[in-house]
Parts: sequence; C-alpha cells; structure tokens
Amino acid sequence: MRHFVSVNQLTTEEIYAILRKAESYQKQKVMLNQQLFAANLFFEPSTRTKMSFNVAQKKLGLEILDFHSESSSVLKGESLYDTARTFEAIGSDLLVIRHPSDHWLDELDNRLSIPVINAGAGKEEHPTQCMLDLLTIYQEFGCIEGLKIAIAGDIKHSRVARSNALALQKLGATVFLTAAPGFEDDELELPYISIDEAVEICDVTMLLRIQHERHLHKAETSDYLELYGLTEEREKRMKEQAIIMHPAPINRGVEIDTDLVECRRSRIFKQMENGVYVRMAIMMHVLNEWGIINENNIEKRYSLIANR
Ligand code: NCD
Repeated sequence: MRHFVSVNQLTTEEIYAILRKAESYQKQKVMLNQQLFAANLFFEPSTRTKMSFNVAQKKLGLEILDFHSESSSVLKGESLYDTARTFEAIGSDLLVIRHPSDHWLDELDNRLSIPVINAGAGKEEHPTQCMLDLLTIYQEFGCIEGLKIAIAGDIKHSRVARSNALALQKLGATVFLTAAPGFEDDELELPYISIDEAVEICDVTMLLRIQHERHLHKAETSDYLELYGLTEEREKRMKEQAIIMHPAPINRGVEIDTDLVECRRSRIFKQMENGVYVRMAIMMHVLNEWGIINENNIEKRYSLIANR
C-alpha cells in the first residue's frame, strides 16, 4: 500500500483517472456513508492547501481532526512520528502532512498502518499542488502531451517546481525552466531559457514565489520583476491561447505584475478552485487503495440518487 508522496509514483493512467474523478466531483456530489476521521498535520504555514483539504474533507463527509503545531506537544519536543502515531491511535483514518523537512516521510515509512498524503515536503515535493496544476492545464488545452510549459522563478527552493517538472515530463510536455542566477537547480535535467524566450514559445508560464524562508540570506528583489518576472510587456508577447499559472501565495510586483494576477490569461484562482476537487479525488483514491472505503459502492449509490 502506498502513501501519496509523489505524482511520480503514479502511472500515467492513474494520474488521468484521478483527474477525471476530480472533474466528476465538480459536477456530481459524493459523500462517504461511514464515519471516517482525517487529521491535517501542518508544520508549516498554509492557507490554500490546508483550507482546500478542509473543504474537500467536508464535501466528502470526513470528520476533521484539526491540529495546530504551535499549540501541540511538538513544543514539548514530540517527534513527527510520535505525533502521527498518536493520531493513528486515537482513530484517524488518514493523515495529511506538511513539514519543512525534505524527507519527512522516511521517518514514518512503514511504521503507520493508515495512509499519509504529502501536502508539502520541504523543497522536495508538493504532489497535490502538482495534480491541481495538471487538472488546470488539462481543462484548458484538453491534453498535456505536446504542450510547451515554462516553470519560472525560484526553482532551486521550490517543491512545486520539482513536482511539476517531473510529472509534466512524464505526461509528454516539453518543460523549460527559467530562473535568476542562483535560483537554478542542477538536479533537474531540463533546459534553462530566459523569461523573454519562455513567454514567446510556451503555452503555459508557471510562475513561482521566491522562497525567502528557505534562503540563508534574504534575496534582493527591487529589479526582479523587470529582469526575471512577468511584466505587462512580456504578457503581450505571449501566444494567443497561452495561460499564466502560479501556486500562490503571490508576491505581487515581484514575480508577476499586480495587474496580471487576474488578467484574462490568469488561471491562478481556477487552480485554487480545482485544488478542492483534486484533493477530494486523491483522498478517495488513497482510501480506496488502502481498502478503507469501497469507492465503487459509494459512487454507484450516489449516481443512483443523482439519476432519480
Ligand atoms: C506553495 C507551497 O507551499 O509550496 N503554495 C501552495 O501550496 N499553494 C508555493 C509557495 O509557498 O510558494
């Protein structure tokens, strides 16, 4: 049984099955018919990911065990494993975890008998963000294969960059990276191009926030927009159907001109909306894979109701 750690652990068919399921939840309600508890263990700040997991859990009828690391026994030195094991012991059926360590899952590996969903691992992976990005791109273009996609910004410190670069390549997109000096990541074997070239050739420009909290020294950003960001002038040079994405939070006026945040090309708030349905689909996928629910029964029951 697998924890949901990386999109790369999924086959192409599994990825598309989850995306299709997420789309179906946008159209049709699904509600679990048994009492299940989900715990959201966030050890790093979060607005979108945590709240969209909350909404997704409520839509599915899961009971939420909320956790605030700043008022928990973590302050008494309790480890991630002991915290997770505690939630398992008191009856959680599913854990959603975000933690600043790149490899926090290693600490839990094979020691829990409930599924864990990675809601952000240090600079390493952010698979649920990646899945909602894939859904947004798929809904826009009807495909992912053959698209040209630029990931632009603080590649070196971004878990969103890594998850998306790997998954988009796997699905047949041509991925380019664009970064200011010092923000490149040598571990990703992908071509670097300038933001000027990226906007002209790509179907998607995916911008990233500068991850100040992961830097040793605060980066200087006064000329960042002009040199490396998406200015209004660069937006005008994008292809007719090209779109702008950003996982948010946004540094308005740094990686993107503030007037572009809600422009006709921007899918930034669509990404957030898709996040709810993708997270519903991921939780259902994982609960089903672990035998905690039988998805077929639930979906049959609800499509019967919907067809009446
Ligand atoms: C991202 C994250 O936390 O990695 N945000 C998110 O989950 N929507 C990106 C970021 O913080 O820059």
